Amino acid sequence: MTLQRTFSIIKPDAVKKGATGDILHMLQHAGFNIIGMKMLEITKQQAEGFYAVHASRPFFNSLTTFMSSGPIVVLALEKENAIADLRKLMGATDPAKADSGTIRKKHAASIEANAIHGSDAEETAKFELNYFFAGYELAG
Ligand code: CDP
Ligand code: MG
Repeated sequence: MTLQRTFSIIKPDAVKKGATGDILHMLQHAGFNIIGMKMLEITKQQAEGFYAVHASRPFFNSLTTFMSSGPIVVLALEKENAIADLRKLMGATDPAKADSGTIRKKHAASIEANAIHGSDAEETAKFELNYFFAGYELAG
């Protein structure tokens, strides 16, 4: 297996409650190399562009309002099998269904305010990394 990159967001709920450090620690403990990281606030429009694949879902409006409600931390991560391993470490979308030891089990408040985002496939990882990072920002 070769090195793979994935994209993650520490969502506004987790940043607000001070869980950023713990989530970064969990990621690094699991072997993820942080090759890009920045804190920022996005507009509703920027959130809509990021989550465009979900535009027709009933939760789209609420989700994009939530994602633009406060600071987030965007991360470029590198590891072998990074995409699948991050999804596993995150846990299920609904924290009530998340396994113990996962980031969402520990930090998520609800199915919407669920602490962390992670790309779900190679194509989406590429799109999402490019959405938030320029190539020169990544310390490969
Ligand atoms: O983030 P993940 O890939 O696990 O889930 P998704 O199905 O791609 O949905 C994206 C995000 O929309 C979730 O992480 C939740 O924040 C939100 N969502 C929601 O608010 N209500 C749902 N029923 C499903 C997702
Ligand atoms: Mg998803």
